[in-house]
Amino acid sequence: MGLIGITGATGAVGGRVARRLAAAGVAQRLVVRDPSRAPDLPADVRVARYGDGGALRHAFDGVDVLLLVSASEDADRVALHRSAVEAAAEAGVRRVVYTSFQSAAPDCTFTFGRDHAATEELLAASRLETTVLRNSFYLNVLPEFVVDGALRGPAGSGRVAAVARDDVADVAVAALLDEEHSGRTYDVTGPQALTLAEVAAEIGRATGGEVTYVEETVEEAYASRASSGAPRWEVDGWVSTYTAIANGELEAVSDVVPRLTGRPATSLRELLARR
Ligand SMILES: NC(=O)c1ccc[n+]([C@@H]2O[C@H](COP(=O)([O-])OP(=O)(O)OC[C@H]3O[C@@H](n4cnc5c(N)ncnc54)[C@H](OP(=O)(O)O)[C@@H]3O)[C@@H](O)[C@H]2O)c1
Repeated sequence: MGLIGITGATGAVGGRVARRLAAAGVAQRLVVRDPSRAPDLPADVRVARYGDGGALRHAFDGVDVLLLVSASEDADRVALHRSAVEAAAEAGVRRVVYTSFQSAAPDCTFTFGRDHAATEELLAASRLETTVLRNSFYLNVLPEFVVDGALRGPAGSGRVAAVARDDVADVAVAALLDEEHSGRTYDVTGPQALTLAEVAAEIGRATGGEVTYVEETVEEAYASRASSGAPRWEVDGWVSTYTAIANGELEAVSDVVPRLTGRPATSLRELLARR
């Protein structure tokens, strides 16, 4: 295998993958927007942002297998991803490992998941070999949703098989290094699907305080987030995080973490105990 390229290397998942590859002595190119924040690793660093085809082609030149980390949420995220897919194909990248989302589909409930479905289609229509990692929500962010001792949202009694970022990174490393994963699409989930009431109880247990799940209606969810001043597309994404759980689109538990990493997936309790 030739050079591995890592986009999003200044972020949580890309940074974890880069550190793991460096520890294993694998040659890599880090692609970042801000070189001053690039991880301090023995790697070649090039600067490019999605949307800038020329910079992306230069950044991907010579890369054999590329981790394409999905962009931060954006009103035009598919166009950003299109520029990256086109640049990868033009630069001669052979295979792309893409961070998608569980249950991604053109009509999935989670509105940001529709961007991932469109990106998967772009990859499928390209000449690139592809490995798609359909990650569940990150376990790591669930505690950040707690405000004033409550986890509020319109998730009903649905379940979410959230996954630890470390597990996502380990799966991505396996997918990058082993050609057996070419042409595959994987659901990357945690070991269990929890209701938000169960999530709240676990967070309360770990923090020594009471945390409760407060079920909102969809109308209440939009009203309680209105003061953020965020644009409608962004609030739609936030609210549909919960309605996707309510609709059962994030409850499937896969064996991908243990199968690709050789160890069990991290539970919420284990992750909270490590923090
Ligand atoms: N499954 C989930 O629960 C979940 C939650 C949040 C996000 N996500 C998605 O998963 C991705 C990776 O997760 P993460 O935890 O690593 O997120 P993160 O820590 O926010 O890192 C995102 C990385 O992508 C880079 N990036 C974002 N937009 C870009 C653009 N337009 N052009 C080039 N680079 C760009 C960022 O660069 P900078 O450092 O310069 O900003 C950063 O390195 C996210 O970007 C998002 O699409 C998933």
